[in-house]
Amino acid sequence: MSQFYKVAKEGAVPEGEGRAFAVEGRMVGVYLLDGEYFALNDFCPHMGASLAGGYVEDHAVSCPWHAWRFSVKDGTWLDNPKIKTDSYPVRVEDGIIEVQFPARKEASSGDAPPCSETCGQ
Ligand code: FES
Repeated sequence: MSQFYKVAKEGAVPEGEGRAFAVEGRMVGVYLLDGEYFALNDFCPHMGASLAGGYVEDHAVSCPWHAWRFSVKDGTWLDNPKIKTDSYPVRVEDGIIEVQFPARKEASSGDAPPCSETCGQ
C-alpha cells in the first residue's frame, strides 16, 4: 500500500528550483514551479547524478552532469519519451510537504534466494 511521507517544511524548496531529500531510504527531488510542487526519483537514470541540482526551465530539469532533460511533471526523459524516471504525488499538510511512494515489494519465500546462497558469503 502506498502512503504519504513527510519530506520538508513548506519553504524548503525555492520557487523555480528543486531540492533533494532523503525519505524512507530513497532520494526524492522536490520542485516548486509556479506555486505547485512536483516530485521525482532524484537519481538520474543515466549515471546517477542528483537531478534536483539541475537547472529548471519550462517544467523540465536538466541533469547537472550530462544535461539529459526530464519533465518535472511526470518524469519523462524529454529527449527520448520512451524512458521515464519515477514521479510521485505531492501534497502539503499543515505546512509540511509530503510525497507519496508506492509500496515496496515484500520479500517472500518464493523470491530470489538469500544473498548467503548466491553471494559467496
Ligand atoms: S548522469 Fe544525468 S545525464 Fe548523465
